[in-house]
Order: sequence, then structure tokens, then C-alpha cells
Amino acid sequence: MKVTVVGAGAVGATCADNIARKELCSELVLLDIKEGVSEGKSLDLFQTSSLLGFDTRIVGSTNDYSKTANSDVVVITSGIPRKPGMTREELIGINAGIVKSVTQNILEHSPNCIIIVISNPMDTMTYLALKSSGLPKNRIIGMGGILDSARFKCYLSLATGAPTNDIHGVVIGGHGDTTMIPLTRYATVNGQPVSQRLDEASLQKVAADTMVGGATLTGLLGTSAWYAPGAAGAALVEAILRDEKKVMPCCVALEGEYGQSDICLGVPVVIGRNGWESIVDYQLNETEQAAFNKSADAVRSMNAVLSTMSM
Ligand code: 2OP
Repeated sequence: MKVTVVGAGAVGATCADNIARKELCSELVLLDIKEGVSEGKSLDLFQTSSLLGFDTRIVGSTNDYSKTANSDVVVITSGIPRKPGMTREELIGINAGIVKSVTQNILEHSPNCIIIVISNPMDTMTYLALKSSGLPKNRIIGMGGILDSARFKCYLSLATGAPTNDIHGVVIGGHGDTTMIPLTRYATVNGQPVSQRLDEASLQKVAADTMVGGATLTGLLGTSAWYAPGAAGAALVEAILRDEKKVMPCCVALEGEYGQSDICLGVPVVIGRNGWESIVDYQLNETEQAAFNKSADAVRSMNAVLSTMSM
């Protein structure tokens, strides 16, 4: 198996690190436009292999897409990250052109790959990758919900005192501070609904903290986070390459599911060797469906910006 990670910034390098440690593929290519950076980070990562006990070969490439040929999975992390006070949506002007050209370059050398989009604004970049690639919808997956759900579980753990791995929690909708929907009704600690452990105000605070989870880290770090985003990207690669059939909240093309069409938005999907294989219907109640529709409206207006851009 071969995986390419495009963008050797903090998220891309952390994603590559996790992929290598888990030995998800025999060859891993890290590509970036900045001369030498991907070669340097690849060599540094490769030098951890005897220390950590993995045999994945890691190759760096400065913008030479021929090295990415025949990748099974490609993770796109390229583009600029947000700075404190910025929304993910404000990145569209720069990142859209980058994601479009990366997608085209990738497909020239790996026409059969599955593409994972992490670049922001992620829902719109996933839609752009879908439309500009012409790939079957199952092979384009936006990674946001896995990360947001991990943050949700983390805040639930802090509020309940339960370990994160005993917690189930899912975030659907857009990957934006106001568009994501932590499904508190479905969250459990070892099967026990969290509503039996936390009062409504605490539950609402967990949801609010989750929604600004990325912004909180950007404020603390001065740039956007990388450990959890990189690990979340690698978890998705793992579910694909190991054909896990795990249900993961991912941004995928909707054609009537959850009441929405012509949009890529976060919903629970089954992930396996063919990419996303089916959408799981969580039977949203009226309030949750209204929030999902509102999220779709916001993402749709961001998608509309694409047609005003010259790329
Ligand atoms: C975040 O939420 C990278 O969008 C990403 O940290």
C-alpha cells in the first residue's frame, strides 16, 4: 500500500508520523511546495523507524508529483492555517486554488486513489475536490467530524471524569465554529446516556466548548492545532486501508440523505477499502434536523463563493 500526504506543515507531518508508526502502508510520500521541507521532515521521520519499530519507507518530494504515483490514499492538508481570531471560512481565497491544483496533480499520477481533504474551509474544499476531480463520490472524504468528535469526547471526559475511551460522542454538520453539531442526545459513557451524568447546563457547555475547540487552540498556539487533526487524518487512513467498516463522522456528498443535496457535509458513514461505503441514518429529531439544515445553508453559501473565484 502507498499513501501520500500533501502538505508537510504541522498537520501533514503529524498525520504522516501517525501513519508510519501504525505501519499502515509500505511507502509513504510527503510532498510540499517549499524546497527541502518535505525531504527534511521525511528523513527525520524515517530516522525514528528503528526507534519506534516500523518499516514504512518515507519519501519526501518538493512538488514532484511523479513520486506520488499509484498512491492508494492521498491526504490533502495543503494551504494556510488560520491565525487567532480568524474563522476557517476566511481561508477560502488562498486555499481553494491550492486544493484545486493539488487535486489535479494527484489524479494525474494516482487516478484510482481515495482522497481525504483536511484543508480548510474543509466542507467547501471537499466539495471543490469532488466537483473538480469528477471522481466517484465514495472516493472523496472530508476529515472534520472525526476530529470534532474527538474534541467532544475530550470535553465530555473532563466534565464527567470518565476516560475518553469509555465515551461515545458524535459531531455532525459542518466543520465550522458555528456549523458543527455535537449530538449530545447520542453521547454515552459506557452505554449510559451522558444526560444521566451531566445536567443540561453542563452538557450545553461541553457542546459550546467543542464547537470552538479549534479556535481555542488557535488562540493558545498562535496557529491552528496539529496533533489531533493529524491523528484524526491517520485514523481515517487506517479505517480505509484496513477495511475496518467503522462508522465515522465524515464530510461526504449528500444526495437527499439527511434532507440535503448538492453539498458535502458531515454525517456518520461506514469507512472501508472503497472509501465511504454508506451513510448511517441517525434519525435526527426536529431540533437536530433544524441545526443540520442551518449548517447546510452556511456551507452552501461558502460553496457559492467558489463560482465567483478565478482558479
Ligand atoms: C482544526 O479544527 C485543523 O480545522 C482543523 O484544528
